[in-house]
Amino acid sequence: MDKKDVSLLTGSDYWFVGPVMVSDGPHGLRKQEKDADFLGGAPSKPAVCYPTASALACSFDRELLREIGRALGDECLAEGISVLLGPGVNHKRSPRCGRSFEYFSEDPVLTGELAAAMVDGIQSRGVGACVKHFAGNSREWGRMVYDSIIGERALFEIYLRQFEIVVKKAHPVAMMAAYNKLGGVYCTENERLLCGIAREKWGFNGVFLSDWGAVSDPVKAAEAGLDVVMPGPDKGNTERILRALDNKTADAEKISARVENVKRFIAEAEAAKRDHTFDEEAHLDLARRAAAESAVLLKNGGSLPLRPDDRVLVVGSMAKKPRFQGAGSSRVIPVSVDCVYDELARDYPDIIYAEGYPSDPFDAARAAELREEACRLAGGADRVVVVAGLPDEYESEGYDRRSLAMPNAHNELISALAACGADVTVVLQCGAPVETPWADSVSAILVMYLSGCRGGAACADLLTGRVSPSGRLAESWPMRTEDDPSYKNFDVSLTRVEYPEGIFTGYRYYDTVGVRPRFPFGAGLSYTSFRIDDASASEDEGVAASCRVTNTGDRAGALALCLYVSKTDSAIPRPAHELKDFTRVFLEPGETLTVSFPLSPEAFEYYDDIAGEMRIEKGDYSIYVGSSPDDLTLCGTVTLEGSSPEKTAADFLSLTERREIGEAEQGPFTPDSPAAHLKRTRLGRMILRIGERFIKKGTPMEELNRAMVHASPLRMLTVTHPRVTSETVEGLVLALNGKFFRGVFRAIRSLLRRKK
Ligand code: BGC
Repeated sequence: MDKKDVSLLTGSDYWFVGPVMVSDGPHGLRKQEKDADFLGGAPSKPAVCYPTASALACSFDRELLREIGRALGDECLAEGISVLLGPGVNHKRSPRCGRSFEYFSEDPVLTGELAAAMVDGIQSRGVGACVKHFAGNSREWGRMVYDSIIGERALFEIYLRQFEIVVKKAHPVAMMAAYNKLGGVYCTENERLLCGIAREKWGFNGVFLSDWGAVSDPVKAAEAGLDVVMPGPDKGNTERILRALDNKTADAEKISARVENVKRFIAEAEAAKRDHTFDEEAHLDLARRAAAESAVLLKNGGSLPLRPDDRVLVVGSMAKKPRFQGAGSSRVIPVSVDCVYDELARDYPDIIYAEGYPSDPFDAARAAELREEACRLAGGADRVVVVAGLPDEYESEGYDRRSLAMPNAHNELISALAACGADVTVVLQCGAPVETPWADSVSAILVMYLSGCRGGAACADLLTGRVSPSGRLAESWPMRTEDDPSYKNFDVSLTRVEYPEGIFTGYRYYDTVGVRPRFPFGAGLSYTSFRIDDASASEDEGVAASCRVTNTGDRAGALALCLYVSKTDSAIPRPAHELKDFTRVFLEPGETLTVSFPLSPEAFEYYDDIAGEMRIEKGDYSIYVGSSPDDLTLCGTVTLEGSSPEKTAADFLSLTERREIGEAEQGPFTPDSPAAHLKRTRLGRMILRIGERFIKKGTPMEELNRAMVHASPLRMLTVTHPRVTSETVEGLVLALNGKFFRGVFRAIRSLLRRKK
């Protein structure tokens, strides 16, 4: 292995592995041609913006995800991008995770299957997908420094399962190793995770890229199975690896395997490049259809669809300036954006508009004025459509939400309109669940999530009844923020995250423990109605279930139908019902279709932590069909052979109790120390103060930005500052550890060397 070979183990540039370009998505391309950044601040080339994963998951439609994948693949080809950095498939442990909008669901099978379809679509064009963030990356605060301490059963059944499905079904070209540690070891250095589980157990044969700045030690990372440290350019990694090879402190065989893997990856990506064009209008139409298919009608007291002769008042500035995507590395500059106000105005030329709430959510005086105006105008309207939700700064990559509350001004507006007797339909634009304290007092609720750059037209299609809503929630919407089973253990410590709720996350908790969410997993209404009958289960040639679905209404519509498995007499703690398969059927009025679900043995497995493997417990299993665990039809019971695990009881109360885990040992400074630790020394405090100068003061974002800076490891300076190398950071660390002059000399020498 010469230097040229070893240098392949680090990105050649911010978005390049050798000559191969990679780019963010995943709900549209973020191709940066000049300045590069990983938080979406610097500009990128305009692109079609599709609904985010949190929206698309509600479609329960593999084919839709495949189509979007194909469209993204075409766009990548046209832009010379060989790998799209996505989809993000992390399990939604808590709706407070700032990046929830980028993830699909709280169910690993739903996530895995939809993501596999998307990867399949992308890769059908000869473009690679990079599935991220592998693994256990379920909180944004401290994502670069915390250790996810997940029990083995939850790890295999919940947190790794979706990755396993994608790897086995869609063979992604790449996976991105996450920033965090898993079980005490950085994911980028985690041999068990990268090689033992992904490569050996699941047969992953692609490349592992690191998340941007996620590598602490490039030698350990390469030995553990990481192929490429991202981003480039190289800030000293190649030298470190070569030095370790020279000293024989590195495993040459393992490192050579990584070099060969990267060479193969580059050769294949280069061979797949071709000139390509795509039809942008067709892609925008797809974005519109996807947004309409994904929206969820949570309540309808008869106000929707709007009647052609309704006098319609639209309230809320989000109706004109929509929130259609999330913030951070997935932020796309859209080719164009529509809005629900303009789109509705096509059908209702006399539509009236009121701003409803101020752009500054803390301006209470202005909020009161706007609320009053809206209530006055509501008097002259038959239907009031309030467009509200989460403003941009409420959810983002890099930080989490404290609570699920929407801004007061939005909640108070909705309540005031309902109180003055208006017929209120609430349209929500948000990337993740919000509290809806006014739910009982409004007549309809339509959740658009973050619906991409054609979300306005899609929303109008649904409000007017051109399209019948068919989305179903892919995550539970709790009644209150505190109801989330991970609530008390979500952010106890910066550097350690425990998961005492284990497998009882999302509906697996609510449904089993009997805590009623505001809207359960699978909730969603339609303008038509469906009947399910003839449900049955058989064991003849493998287990299968089937049922007939009939559209009993007078409109065409689609229904997401899921298959759930339940074992009530299990010896081990189990969720009341678990989703194992799903499909989406589209039916004309009066049409009937028979739906069958063949079930593989995996549908009945649990992870036995004593044996260290997946097993089937022997006995009876009930099989159900339906959209939500709340409303199921029994197909039948099947009896399976298998193991007899020792009886263990679930202590549901302790699952949600706060555990005081404290912070990880601090010890001397290292490049991995979070900036927050700088407070320990005088020099550190000085450096922190300099760093904090770049934070914009006096904005609602100030505190969040400070928290983000404090939670970043010192080595991130090599990513955020072009001149800083790993040697500079090592110098800084020496100085912080009391070797002031040696450290400063080293840091300055590295900066000067780089200047030359
Ligand atoms: C994100 C990744 C993203 C990368 C490049 C990271 O901060 O976690 O999802 O692909 O930046 O922008």
